[in-house]
Amino acid sequence: MAEKLIRFGVAMEEELLRDFDRVVESRGGTRSEALRDLARAAVIRAQVRRGADAVAALTLVYDHHVRDLTERLTELQHELGDRVRSTVHVHLDHDHCLEVVVMQGRSDELQGIADRILALRGVKHGGIELYVGGSTPARGAGHAHHHHHDHATAVSPPRRAPPRARKRKTS
Ligand code: NI
Repeated sequence: MAEKLIRFGVAMEEELLRDFDRVVESRGGTRSEALRDLARAAVIRAQVRRGADAVAALTLVYDHHVRDLTERLTELQHELGDRVRSTVHVHLDHDHCLEVVVMQGRSDELQGIADRILALRGVKHGGIELYVGGSTPARGAGHAHHHHHDHATAVSPPRRAPPRARKRKTS
């Protein structure tokens, strides 16, 4: 169901508008669409800070040889408890692991723990995608809940493609 659009005037410096139009052109679409996306992103950022029901995917690449890192990561995930819904672990090469942790809970808490995980020494790359404002299913219900898998709105798309996982070396 499309909502009614309201028109309003926007004043902007000429140079900023020129730069913005280049961005609009490169991503395709219109100025209005680009501005709506920016507005939505700002609204979501504010909701995330305030603390709202959220689902999130935390992605990290880390060097598992760094002292205590694996233990610290395990500790922090235990701290998350049943807010962790699923984890994928891929052994990228001799040194590096890729881990994706799917979480559900209050956005500010998920963001806080993610920040602590990403700040650990040995974590080479990572980020979190948080989605708020959708119909997030109740957690902890096991399989008693109905399977309303709303894939279209479950998580926001990643900003960039995740690193391609190489096959594990078998030696
Ligand atoms: Ni590994």
